Amino acid sequence: MRRVAGENGPTAIGARLAIAQSPCQSAARMNRARAYSSGPVVIAVDGPAASGKGSIARALARHFGLPHMDTGMLYRAVALTMFRFGGDPASEFEAVRACEGVAQIDPTDPELRSEVVGSIASRISTYPGVRAALMDRQRGFAGQAAGAVLDGRDIGTVIAPNATVKLFVTASAEVRAQRRVRELLERGMPAHFEDVLIDIRSRDARDSGREAAPLAQADDAELLDTSEMDLDEAIEAAIKLAENKLAALAKA
Ligand code: CDP
Ligand code: CDP
Repeated sequence: MRRVAGENGPTAIGARLAIAQSPCQSAARMNRARAYSSGPVVIAVDGPAASGKGSIARALARHFGLPHMDTGMLYRAVALTMFRFGGDPASEFEAVRACEGVAQIDPTDPELRSEVVGSIASRISTYPGVRAALMDRQRGFAGQAAGAVLDGRDIGTVIAPNATVKLFVTASAEVRAQRRVRELLERGMPAHFEDVLIDIRSRDARDSGREAAPLAQADDAELLDTSEMDLDEAIEAAIKLAENKLAALAKA
């Protein structure tokens, strides 16, 4: 069965199989979010590149027993399709056509995480046509009865504006560039700090400056600056913020 880049968790959408399922969750963890709310809990995690939002979102999904979607993988899958099959990222028409190829991409393909693919993803994600083509998939995931955790750039503002919990995760550009260099080297990919820092800054500027669904902190999102935190500390802080918010909502 076809796997779809970016989807991960216990619930499949329609005929598509959820990919890379989280390790089997214990019964106690399953639907821990239900302890706070009888309705579906949706957690939106937004932030710039290498802020840690993906790792935090996966940890929140494990903690609360919720399915997770890494929406950046959808944009990266479109970018990889264009990179492989020669589409021109300067053409919105070609980028929209490449959205049809998302389901063909293997979500474990290491090239999805490469800087060149991230950079093309940042360019093609400025096109309203591309964002529209990928929107139903994301909103469908956010709207499932089991609840969901989604991470990206516009989850709290556009995809799931009524999310139960919203986090905006950030860190200084230098810290994020160091993290990305370490990550790329660990994956056996070439990485130079200065190049990665330039790329991160230009992606920040493009993601925040575009007209269609720019990267922005939602008014009701909690800010989590992880510049001075290691990953475990950042995850712990995110879980605490989410639990506090859910507890406050349960009391209200
Ligand atoms: O992991 P990293 O933050 O570097 O990137 P990503 O989340 O995989 O996203 C790759 C690119 O897709 C970003 O630079 C954004 O331009 C775009 N994206 C977006 O526009 N909206 C989203 N919800 C997610 C990603
Ligand atoms: O999804 P996003 O691009 O925002 O970040 P990520 O993929 O979760 O994290 C990028 C890299 O930074 C990973 O190798 C994380 O382990 C690392 N990281 C870290 O060292 N310290 C943090 N506080 C957050 C992430």
